[in-house]
Amino acid sequence: MLMNRAETALINSPPRRWLQRLYEVPVLLSFGGRLPPGSRALEIGCGSGYGSQLMLQRFGAAQVDAIDLDPAMIARAQARLAPYRDRVHLATGSATDLRAALNADDGSYDAVFDFGIIHHISDWRGAVAEAARVLSLVGGSTSKKSLHTLSTAPPTGGCSTTPPRTGLPPRTSSTR
Ligand SMILES: C[S@@+](CC[C@H](N)C(=O)[O-])C[C@H]1O[C@@H](n2cnc3c(N)ncnc32)[C@H](O)[C@@H]1O
Repeated sequence: MLMNRAETALINSPPRRWLQRLYEVPVLLSFGGRLPPGSRALEIGCGSGYGSQLMLQRFGAAQVDAIDLDPAMIARAQARLAPYRDRVHLATGSATDLRAALNADDGSYDAVFDFGIIHHISDWRGAVAEAARVLSLVGGSTSKKSLHTLSTAPPTGGCSTTPPRTGLPPRTSSTR
C-alpha cells in the first residue's frame, strides 16, 4: 500500500535515517551478523534507498536488488545509490510478486531485508512467502534461511518488534 504524504515526509526525513543506522542496523546485526563475502541481497520496500546503502556498507552485501511499489521512491533511491550503480539494481514492483518485479527465481538471494515495511502490505503473508521462495538455503541446511525483518508494528496494529507468524523457523527476525 502506498504511503500518505505525512508518512512519506517522515520516511524521507533525517530522523528516519538515524533510526535505521543507529538502532535497526545494530539490532539486525545482533540477530544475524554480517553477510558472507559475495552475498546477493534483496531489499523489499526500499523507500529512499538508505537501507540498501546500509546493506552494502554495514552488512557487506556484494550485490543488492531493491524494489518499492512507489516509483517516486525508486527515483529517490536511484539518486542516493548512484555511487553504487554497478552493485545495485532497482525496480518498481510489489514484494508479493518478485517474479514480476525482478524475474526472481527460487533461491536466488542469500538474504532478504525488510526495514519497516511488512505492516504496510495487506497481503503480508504473500510477501513473506515470496521472500522465503527467493531465499537460498544457508550452508546447505534444509531449514535455515536469512530473512532480516524489523517492523515496529505488526499487520494487526499495535507496536512490537516481533514479526508476524510466518511458518518460517522461529528466529524469523533473522535466521542464520
Ligand atoms: C514505511 S516505508 C519504509 C521505507 C524504507 N524501507 C525505510 O525503512 O525507510 C514503506 C515502504 O514500503 C513500500 N511498499 C508498500 N507496499 C509495498 C509492496 N507491496 N511492495 C513493495 N513495496 C511496498 C512503500 O512504497 C514505502 O516506500
